Amino acid sequence: MSLSIMQAALLMACTDQRPHAPVSSDTPLPQRLAAADPTNGARLFRQCAACHSLGVGTGDRDGPNLWAVLGAAVATNSPRFAYTAALKRAGGRWTCERMDAWLADPGRFAPGSAMAFPGLSDGADRADVIALLAQSGGTITDASCRALAVGPDARTGM
Ligand code: HEC
Repeated sequence: MSLSIMQAALLMACTDQRPHAPVSSDTPLPQRLAAADPTNGARLFRQCAACHSLGVGTGDRDGPNLWAVLGAAVATNSPRFAYTAALKRAGGRWTCERMDAWLADPGRFAPGSAMAFPGLSDGADRADVIALLAQSGGTITDASCRALAVGPDARTGM
């Protein structure tokens, strides 16, 4: 009994540690993506889950459903969602580079956007969330996503 408690405590201690120690918040995106951990991304996604679901067709909350958002045209991922003009104006597609900028500071990427979220200040955390999005139906063919360690085979969906 006490052994399994110890094992659980050990496991928690291990998962708390970033497995890719050389990567820091301001490491360039390709290196952050190469070291990204989608499992930690799923843990971080709890902050997003108040407003976003990530399953296939699981609907919108305060924010749009995010299945397959990576690679999608900006402000279109959920056809029924009422996006702001501010986000629509950003245009283009969700590359890994743009997703990194958006998740760092939504208000800076699209001033006036309705995403009431201050952003993830840690660049390694953002890479982990991007790796999770890549596993959740996202298209990872963009050049800025090339360094992602996860491939389509690793897709799980949530
Ligand atoms: C308080 C609610 C809230 C939280 C928390 C939140 N979002 Fe959002 N998100 C929104 C809203 C609202 C929009 C639509 C913004 C607009 O139209 O201006 C949005 C839009 C987005 C989009 C663009 C979707 C598209 O179709 O282009 C992405 C990607 C996204 N959020 C990712 C995230 C991630 C990842 C997190 C967590 C790190 C997060 N959001 C946290 C509310 C939230």
